[in-house]
Amino acid sequence: MPAPTQLCFASNNAHKLDEIRPLLPPSLALLSLADIGCHEELPETQDTLEGNARQKAEYVRQHYGVACFADDTGLEVTALDGAPGVYSARYAGPQRLAEDNVAKLLQELAGSADRSARFRTVVALAGADGTVHEFAGEVAGHIAEHGRGTGGFGYDPVFVPAEGDGRTFAEMSGTEKNLISHRARAVAGLLTFLNED
Ligand code: IMP
Repeated sequence: MPAPTQLCFASNNAHKLDEIRPLLPPSLALLSLADIGCHEELPETQDTLEGNARQKAEYVRQHYGVACFADDTGLEVTALDGAPGVYSARYAGPQRLAEDNVAKLLQELAGSADRSARFRTVVALAGADGTVHEFAGEVAGHIAEHGRGTGGFGYDPVFVPAEGDGRTFAEMSGTEKNLISHRARAVAGLLTFLNED
């Protein structure tokens, strides 16, 4: 597949778009769903990160005729047997509120000696040639006792990456998070693949 000059990111999450934009080379224009005239909720009904990432990317390619990639991310907590995992967005209910999700997580982990966790992202690329390729990225860390920081989104206020200095992702700048994050690592795999062709 010849390297595309523009690629749509199949997500309505503006935070993810903000994180991904600085990771891409200037030669690759990033299109949002709004840019391609897509204003609908994307289907996300699979029970794996891989399945959901593929489903979103393939849906956009099929219905809007553009090459695109999608990301699906889960927070996997050891003491909770990998939960909330693929259900991270609706952990505390269908309203998908980050505050509620974080509150439920802290409640579930109360008194737990093991607070280790990891973020895992799967990026699926639906190419113009009809192929789909997947790229994974993860970052290990632990869940803080209380939320700290105002940056980032989702579970960032309670996630302390092992490779950091004790700050949560929400206490880091976007650039700092991008140096070690699950999403940046998955996108790095995508970029390597695009450069190989
Ligand atoms: P999804 O990939 O948009 O389905 O995200 C699943 C859940 O994980 C949502 O609740 C997001 O807010 C959360 N999430 C996704 N990526 C991140 C991240 O980089 N930091 C913190 N929370 C995230």
